[in-house]
Amino acid sequence: MPGVALRKLDPGDYQNVIAKLDAWWGGRHMSDMLPKLFFVHFASTSLAAVTGDGSLAGFLVGFVSPTLAGEAYIHFVGVDPQRRGEGLGRRLYEAFFDLARARGCDRVTAVTSPVNTGSIAFHLAMGFEPQPGAQKLNGIWVHPDYDGPGEDRVVFKKAI
Ligand SMILES: CC(C)(COP(=O)(O)OP(=O)(O)OC[C@H]1O[C@@H](n2cnc3c(N)ncnc32)[C@H](O)[C@@H]1OP(=O)(O)O)[C@@H](O)C(=O)NCCC(=O)NCCS
Repeated sequence: MPGVALRKLDPGDYQNVIAKLDAWWGGRHMSDMLPKLFFVHFASTSLAAVTGDGSLAGFLVGFVSPTLAGEAYIHFVGVDPQRRGEGLGRRLYEAFFDLARARGCDRVTAVTSPVNTGSIAFHLAMGFEPQPGAQKLNGIWVHPDYDGPGEDRVVFKKAI
């Protein structure tokens, strides 16, 4: 996408991201799941997509698992609603795959909510596979209560 550059995320990006987060997620309250610690401790494996005037077009927060050897994890990805469908989400993911490979990873995990059908479609398009769970919803494996009571999740994995 011309005019949008990727750079490492910075703790100074926090207020800007958090101000946009809930709106970018269609009004869902998401900011509690993205405390500043991610911007401080995982900045070296997280990305900002910025336009020529410095405004935020998208971001990705990810890290290399300190426990599961060879595994990287994408916690959040968001693209400005005005810029969706132009390949920026794919670009952020592919840049993260490069960062993860350079750190010895051979697979990436991402977890999303079953109500987030856009995220599910995006991950399927990116070649992620839903990991078998206890139920299927609309043909997709779901892990009931994965993040606590009533907090079902779809768990995606992809070899990189
Ligand atoms: C999910 C999200 C990051 C995708 O960003 P994007 O820049 O629009 O995605 P891209 O244009 O790079 O699309 C990549 C692929 O995913 C597909 N895709 C993306 N969003 C889709 C949707 N809502 N429905 C169907 N397919 C979709 C595209 O068709 C494309 O497929 P292709 O490359 O085979 O043609 C963006 O919609 C977003 O920010 N959503 C809100 C936040 C969110 O839910 N994040 C994910 C959970 S953390």
